[in-house]
Amino acid sequence: MDLVFAAATLLAFYILLRRLESRPDASEPPLISSKIPLVGHLVGLIWHGLPYYTQQSAKHELPIFTINLVANKAYVITSPNLVTAIQRKSRLISFDSFPTSAAERLAGIAGPGLQLLRETRAGGQGLGLKVLHAMNPALLGDGLDEMNIKMAMTLKSSIDELAGRGAYISFDLYAWCREALTIASTDAVYGPLNPYKPASIQEAFWRDGLTSPPSRTFERNTAIFLLGVSPRFTARRAWKSRETVVAALEQYYRMEGHENSSELTYRRWQVQRENGASVADIARLEALLAFALLPNTIPAGFWLLIEIFSRPHLLAEIREELCNNALHVDKSGVHLIDLGDIQSKCDILVSALQETLRVHSNATVTRKVYEDIMLNDEYLLKAGSLVQIPAHELNRHNSVWLMNPERFEAKRFMKRNDSKSAPVATGYLSFGASPNICPGRHFATGEILAMTAMILLRYDIEPEDGSWAISQLDTGDLPATITPPAMGSFRAVISSRTKYHGFEWQFRVSKGQGKYGLITG
Ligand code: HEM
Ligand SMILES: *[C@@H]1O[C@H](CO)[C@@H](O)[C@H](O)[C@H]1NC(C)=O
Ligand SMILES: *[C@@H]1O[C@H](CO)[C@@H](O)[C@H](O)[C@H]1NC(C)=O
Ligand SMILES: *[C@@H]1O[C@H](CO)[C@@H](O)[C@H](O)[C@H]1NC(C)=O
Repeated sequence: MDLVFAAATLLAFYILLRRLESRPDASEPPLISSKIPLVGHLVGLIWHGLPYYTQQSAKHELPIFTINLVANKAYVITSPNLVTAIQRKSRLISFDSFPTSAAERLAGIAGPGLQLLRETRAGGQGLGLKVLHAMNPALLGDGLDEMNIKMAMTLKSSIDELAGRGAYISFDLYAWCREALTIASTDAVYGPLNPYKPASIQEAFWRDGLTSPPSRTFERNTAIFLLGVSPRFTARRAWKSRETVVAALEQYYRMEGHENSSELTYRRWQVQRENGASVADIARLEALLAFALLPNTIPAGFWLLIEIFSRPHLLAEIREELCNNALHVDKSGVHLIDLGDIQSKCDILVSALQETLRVHSNATVTRKVYEDIMLNDEYLLKAGSLVQIPAHELNRHNSVWLMNPERFEAKRFMKRNDSKSAPVATGYLSFGASPNICPGRHFATGEILAMTAMILLRYDIEPEDGSWAISQLDTGDLPATITPPAMGSFRAVISSRTKYHGFEWQFRVSKGQGKYGLITG
């Protein structure tokens, strides 16, 4: 009897929920239903993270569809034409509100400081977007050259240390990349007083290492912070970690570290000071920079190494390309790798990186709809909804990528490639979609290619267990648009190549050559 009653109640509840589901307008994109009514998609999104959109796209094969997220809805776009249509309406379908949410929830800025940052169309003073805009010029030209010089110096010492690993001792290649690129990137951005130098600050930010499990780090808990459910109480250790990073940054400004840093750091500081932000709030906002600086560059560098080393023929070709074009030996026998030569003459290597980013990107380009709008005269998009564009789908769309979109083809992006696979912008979202293209792409590219070039030339790497296949991914790293491997899932053995044994190595940075001809969406 009880069972029948329970079943009837459940059924009634189910029908009620189905009724409650807001019916879309006839001209809205088709609504995808979920097994569990009303909350099914929201649960899916929380469970799987942003790649949930990719899963749904693959399942339904529609150019655009609607997903109900209870409080609002998301239009998921999987067709290049519609990406272009979204870009044409970038004033009404825009990214502008997200930096404010990040400042509030992730950085913990409140009150007048938040009002200063808030976008103007939401009644704020628009400083958040000004800070973002100040970054673009600082990541090109002289600012980029100077960051590259410092980055190369730090990176070189880390790569020198690999020589001491010994051929028979295996190590976690991803952990090594993380360590080397974290310190090279932050040294370049922050200068001699780099607040991320102490291991304790790296651990508070993101190293789920020897002393802190992932649950305690700031970066690992991004989703909890963004949900805004009082992290101070619900995720106390992660909250403390954030406060540790913020305090280190505040101390950095008080010691005037920014006076001798990079154009990037200086300009971000300057625009905030000029507009009246407090040092405490500047430090909070600055804690977010590491989310852009580190979690993508590191897995991208790791995967590029794997994609090349696992293909002996490609490895030989790229080594030859580097030897012939970018390697110089000076009178005293120092081996110099010229980063400008990599940029202008090493097409296979530059193409291989772009292909790595195409294949490994799990980015979701996100926009908010500000007014009801008819997209392409066909689909009604309603104000307040989200637009979500999964890069994984676009990066493989068969209208753009005619040749084997599923396959890794290292030469696909070569400048002189006359084949029909020549990529077009709307089908490549690994660096986002205009007008919000990643401004750090040239710095990241230079850093990844510098690391890869020097490792390829100096060392041989083999998987400890003989297999290059990496099946375990770390899917819990929300800010990482390039999905990293699971920690410890790839152990490598490394040996110095006898050809170059005992030589001193250096990088050379040629001014004005830090900007790459990358394809962007
Ligand atoms: C391989 C490395 C990198 C990848 C794959 C990458 C990817 C991306 C993507 C996909 C977006 C767009 C998000 C969206 O439209 O919703 C983005 C935005 C951004 N990235 Fe990167 N990024 C990388 C490295 C960097 C670095 C090193 C920096 C800083 C120096 C940086 C700074 C930024 C900033 C500030 C934005 C926001 C831009 C805006 O909204 O106007 N990124 N990145
Ligand atoms: C600025 O940084 C460089 C190293 O990047 C250092 O040699 C120099 O002494 C520093 N200058 C000041 C004024 O701190
Ligand atoms: C994207 O993420 C999902 C789940 O988080 C994972 O299953 C998938 O393999 C990832 N894709 C890539 C290209 O890394
Ligand atoms: C062009 O790219 C294809 C793969 O997409 C590759 O097979 C071919 O060798 C490339 N052409 C050149 C000239 O490198």
